[in-house]
Order: sequence, then structure tokens, then C-alpha cells
Amino acid sequence: MSKQDTSAASTILQPVVWADGTLELLDQRLLPGQIVYLKLTTPQDVWEAIRELKVRGAPAIGISAAFGVVLGVQGFKGTARELAEEARRHAEHLATSRPTAVNLFWALDRMKARAFALAEEGLSAESAAAALLEEAKRIQAEDVETNRRIGEHALTLFADGMGVLTHCNAGGLATSKYGTALAPFYLALEQGIALKVFADETRPVLQGARLTAFELQQAGVDVTLITDNMAAHVMSKGWVQAVIVGTDRVAANGDVANKIGTYGVAVLAKAHGIPFYVACPLSTIDLSTAIGAEIPIEERHADEVTSAFGRRTAPEGVKVYNPAFDVTPHELVTAIITEQGIVRAPYEANLKALFDK
Ligand code: MRU
Repeated sequence: MSKQDTSAASTILQPVVWADGTLELLDQRLLPGQIVYLKLTTPQDVWEAIRELKVRGAPAIGISAAFGVVLGVQGFKGTARELAEEARRHAEHLATSRPTAVNLFWALDRMKARAFALAEEGLSAESAAAALLEEAKRIQAEDVETNRRIGEHALTLFADGMGVLTHCNAGGLATSKYGTALAPFYLALEQGIALKVFADETRPVLQGARLTAFELQQAGVDVTLITDNMAAHVMSKGWVQAVIVGTDRVAANGDVANKIGTYGVAVLAKAHGIPFYVACPLSTIDLSTAIGAEIPIEERHADEVTSAFGRRTAPEGVKVYNPAFDVTPHELVTAIITEQGIVRAPYEANLKALFDK
């Protein structure tokens, strides 16, 4: 019998589950009202799930895409070399699902590299497909350990009784467990450290209200939901001693792309003398992108802005601008917390040093 998971994070629903040849994804668009797992059987299903935010959050997108490649080569007839070409084809398509989170490309590159390495080993296609499944499972399992370590490092920055504000959802629902920015909250709970979390609701699609408030509340973390435009007020009251967010991509100079609104929160933190922390695995740091302005920012459908509460909230035909992410300049980032430890400015040198280790 497997050991029962008694950690504070054990209450979080698993966003990505591999079950006997199919990929089961928790449909995050329906949370918190409905808990529905979708059964996906093709890479195209996975592409659509990522595009439509059924699964979202940088690490969870990468993990799902890795399993998407597996779905594409299951039962493949041919040589291992042909299977690797097929895996590359699916990976290239999956890479077009969303542009900003670099974990997507990181995971797909890892799957492609593994497929071609297996072909070199002269395996049968059947064995190569099985080994690719193991690789996808490894990406998922490593993410659990990575996030726990991020949480341990992040927790050293927080003290009992502190108020901490977060934006969007960088929690268990965005990863395989613990999350990145939310990981210290679960570890604090396990260690009896009382933190008071403020969750921005995160317009336009409310990842903060629907996902962060939901998963923290389920676990028993002290969480208070606020609308995005309340953050300055809450800070001015002295209720927030730190901000922590996740990220979809960190450029080589330490500029950080994350959910739209993050930049504003960083400016507010600076104005109130509050540290602004970013938590992420090394797989989110993209040294090949020099500065934040080079990070591709996804623009999403106008409906996300013109509708809310299940109805239209703006006039028909109004012009809409709907970027899903913004870039926080590195000058506003107090520290970046990775599984390898806490990185501070100068970011260019210190981020590079992480990879040189
Ligand atoms: O559009 P989303 O919901 O995929 O955006 C998610 C975020 O912005 C998260 O903060 C980021 O991916 C980090 S998840 C650990």
C-alpha cells in the first residue's frame, strides 16, 4: 500500500493525471464550481486544452504537452527513428498552443531530445514509446521535488504573522504539486507558521479568485480574496509585508513575464517599501531571451474582457486590448526564488551562474 500523503498540499486537486494510455486533465475553466476531468487521447486534444485554458500555469502546460507527445506516438508502427520524427512533428504543433510560458518549449525540447536519443540506441518503436512515457512522467515527478525546494527557500523570507499578497495562480493547480509562489504557504501550514495570504482575483479570467482562493482555502491556509484594484489600499493599511508571484518566463536580465497585472503589483510594492519576490523553477528561466521586451506576450480574445459574471459587461463593438501577461522590469524584483536558492541582483550574472553550476 502506498504511503498516505498527509502534507498540507495533499488537498490540491491534481491538474494533470496520466491514466492507462489517456491524459486526464482537470478542466480549470469550471473551478471552483465543478470538478470535471477531461479524458484526452490525441495531441490535438491537448493543444486545444492548453489554448482554451482547461489546463494552465507554466509548469502544468509543459507537463501536459509532454504527455501530448506521448499520445501522438502511442502504438506507432515504424522504426524508432520514424517515431522520433513523429514526436518532433507533434511537439512542433503543441508548441504553437500558447507563446509566453517557456516551460512549454522546455518540456517539448526535452521530449524531442529524448526521442532522438532513443532512436540512436536502436530500440524498437514500442520500447521508444514506452521510454517517452517514462520521460513525461519524470518531468512531472521532478516538478514536485523542485516546487518543494522552491517553497523551502521562499519560506526563509517569511516570518510568523506576515501578510503576503499574490497575483494569479502559481499553485498546485499550475504545477504537479505545491506550486511555485504558493509552495511556501503550504510548507508554512505544515510547520505551524501563520501567514495571512491576500489573493488578487486577477481579471480577466479570475485565476486568483477561482483557483488560488480555492486551493488555499481547501488546504486550510488563511486566505483573503481581494479585487485587483484593492491591492494598493490593502498595502496602505500595512497588512502586506511581502508579495510573491510565479512567472511564465524570466529573461536573462531578470525581467519577469507573468499574468497581466503583475507589473502593477510590483510598482505598488515598491511604492509601499514591500519586497516583491518571484518564484520559479530553472525551467522558467530563459537565458536565450536577453530582455523582457523580447518575450512574446499572448493576446487573448476580447470576450474575456467584455464579459463577466456569465453575461456581457461592455457595449457591443467596443475596442478591446487583452494581453494575457505583462513584464515586470528587474529593477522592481527583490529576489527570484528557484529550487537552487534565492537569486538577487545583479540578475544577468547571478542567473547565468545558476546554469554554470
Ligand atoms: O494564463 P495562465 O493562467 O496560464 O497564467 C498563469 C500565470 O501567470 C502563472 O503565474 C505562471 O504560469 C506561473 S505558474 C507556477
